[in-house]
Amino acid sequence: MNINSSISDMPIAIFDSGFGGLTVLKQLLKILPNENYIYIGDNINIPYGDKSKDEIINLTLKMTEFLISKKCKILIIACNTISACAYDILKQKYEIPIIEVISNGIREALNNTKNNNISIMGTEFTIHSNIYKDKITQQSRNAEVTQVICKELCPMIENNWDSHKNRFDVLKNYLKNIDKESDTLILACTHYPHIINDIQNLLKTDISNSIKNIIDPSYYRALSVKKYLEKNNILNMRNQKKINIYTTENIEREKKIINIFMSKDEIYDFNQIKL
Ligand code: DGL
Repeated sequence: MNINSSISDMPIAIFDSGFGGLTVLKQLLKILPNENYIYIGDNINIPYGDKSKDEIINLTLKMTEFLISKKCKILIIACNTISACAYDILKQKYEIPIIEVISNGIREALNNTKNNNISIMGTEFTIHSNIYKDKITQQSRNAEVTQVICKELCPMIENNWDSHKNRFDVLKNYLKNIDKESDTLILACTHYPHIINDIQNLLKTDISNSIKNIIDPSYYRALSVKKYLEKNNILNMRNQKKINIYTTENIEREKKIINIFMSKDEIYDFNQIKL
């Protein structure tokens, strides 16, 4: 067996603080249907967006060590908060290829905006890190960037969004803070694409705005993973896909959520882990 073919069979590892990274897994399953996958959601410790840098790094290292022990070919940080906080640390510490979730969204936003006015919705940690704002203005000096902290969204999406009676009021209050002139909105938390239809509808009907493009970075991230695997000749060509889902919380809850968010045509294997 040559080295590349044994690497090809290894799984793609994806992790997030909870169910947000499923938006990335969903796109990967469409674009790379023959791959094996391992997903971890640290659902018991969510939200990461309100935690300190040290707390996020500590939990991230535990998830990374676990995934590396499973022998993966690539590690995808499917969380903006972890990407903002710990990507550089992981890159320095581990040899495995590691992909973050921020740069693709920024590139697409800059490719799509016509007036260089971009708004960003994200967690407290991601927005306070200024990673989006800094990277955008480095690439396009005159860009106007408005950042909106959406503190309540991630926990509400994690805990069955549709069951929250006040969900549209909460969402409207955040959408009102988008710059009225922005033509592009980046969903800078992997949980938000789960409610992209509600965001689109409220922007159409209830909020005065100029948004023409809503950027869901998960799609562009999945495309770039495909390119990476092709370039390195490590695409999995066999058709024996396995999808292992790990949660730090309750497996039954994980199963219910997978049923809501993911395709019913796939077979998932569920496991609980302690970090
Ligand atoms: N999905 C994570 C992100 O992209 C949510 C962070 C959280 O746990 O607060 O930022």
